[in-house]
Amino acid sequence: MVRSSKAIAPHGGHLVNRLVSEAQRQEFLSKAEFLPRVQLTERSLSDLELIAIGGFSPLTGFMNQEDYESVVMNMRLANGLPWAIPITLPVDEAIAAPLQIGSLVRLDDPNGLFIGVLELSQKYTYDKLKEALHVYRTNEDRHPGVKVVYTQGNTYLAGDIWLLERRPHPNFPTYQIDPAESRELFAEKGWRTIVGFQTRNPIHRAHEYIQKCALEIVDGLFLHPLVGATKSDDVPADVRMRCYEIMLEHYYPQDRVILAINPAAMRYAGPREAIFHAILRKNYGCTHFIVGRDHAGVGDYYGTYDAQYIFDEFEPGELGITPLMFEHAFYCTRTKGMATTKTSPSLPEERIHLSGTKVREMLRRGECPPPEFSRPEVAAELAKVMHQMAMAEVPAEFQI
Ligand code: ADX
Repeated sequence: MVRSSKAIAPHGGHLVNRLVSEAQRQEFLSKAEFLPRVQLTERSLSDLELIAIGGFSPLTGFMNQEDYESVVMNMRLANGLPWAIPITLPVDEAIAAPLQIGSLVRLDDPNGLFIGVLELSQKYTYDKLKEALHVYRTNEDRHPGVKVVYTQGNTYLAGDIWLLERRPHPNFPTYQIDPAESRELFAEKGWRTIVGFQTRNPIHRAHEYIQKCALEIVDGLFLHPLVGATKSDDVPADVRMRCYEIMLEHYYPQDRVILAINPAAMRYAGPREAIFHAILRKNYGCTHFIVGRDHAGVGDYYGTYDAQYIFDEFEPGELGITPLMFEHAFYCTRTKGMATTKTSPSLPEERIHLSGTKVREMLRRGECPPPEFSRPEVAAELAKVMHQMAMAEVPAEFQI
């Protein structure tokens, strides 16, 4: 029996749905060949999908200049609602120039297939340096998120969007669970409190430790690995998903965990992205969200706990979702288990940390990382695949 539970409200109050009805779809299809076209990048396509399925509620389209400026400068939409990352549609000036304000624009996916419609309300230029410095806290083009901003088009197109069809994910159709569905699933399971987990790396024991610590105090765990665009040296999503399947089979209680894909593109914006990730999971129905060490960070751009401190910039209750903060977790040889400095009396030499470089070297040679770092079944899978990929790189962030 479904236990009645009061689900957390989506950000801004209601779950956005911009999937067209069949009648609207036919109408758009009949107009398709007469509409001006914009071809989406992989990132813009995942933004379009996330707007349409309500993951980015309350956004109903790509941001206009007022919202964009307000998000960049104040981490809020123009109406004051917290929002940390610009959701914009960048195009080259030559593509933007002929487009008429008020007209419909056909949005094609990266393969040239008609996937959505934009009702163009504004086009505007923007300051890339300002966006980099405020959102990413650096102007260096070495930063993978900043690099995207510097190389993308100079004009942002704004306006409401519609998605023509919800296509099953080509690689993970069974794990494609949209916000309305995850909310239903949580209600069916009678979960009142759900903790969301963001990740872009293969699961290791520190991940497992913080997930399970969190699960001790809530009803359910929503494992939500990101499968949208990542930088090229991140471990491919299918390898990461396989590791999750192995973990669920051996190490997690099936009735307390849901594994689903997060279609978002990775920005590597550290603190700002932690807020963005939390709001996204709130829209999926999570009441809590895990923020560990250097969340969504890259290289040494952010301090270990900057992505936790940023939550203090909002009034209690403003975000709606509760962050669960975790210190840097490691394997402690003295207490023989996973721990942090909050829970273990260990000396530094009693803490097992593996550097990304070391793990990368081991996997390249086909060697398994030790059980203190990774569960043996996952280590074996990773070593097999990464060895096969021979010269493939494991990211520096892949470390405990
Ligand atoms: S992220 O870019 O998606 O944040 P990653 O997959 O490495 O990267 O991390 C997923 C989550 O686990 C983040 O909240 C991160 O802070 C946390 N995390 C990763 N490793 C550790 C660790 N050793 N100790 C504590 N938290 C960690």
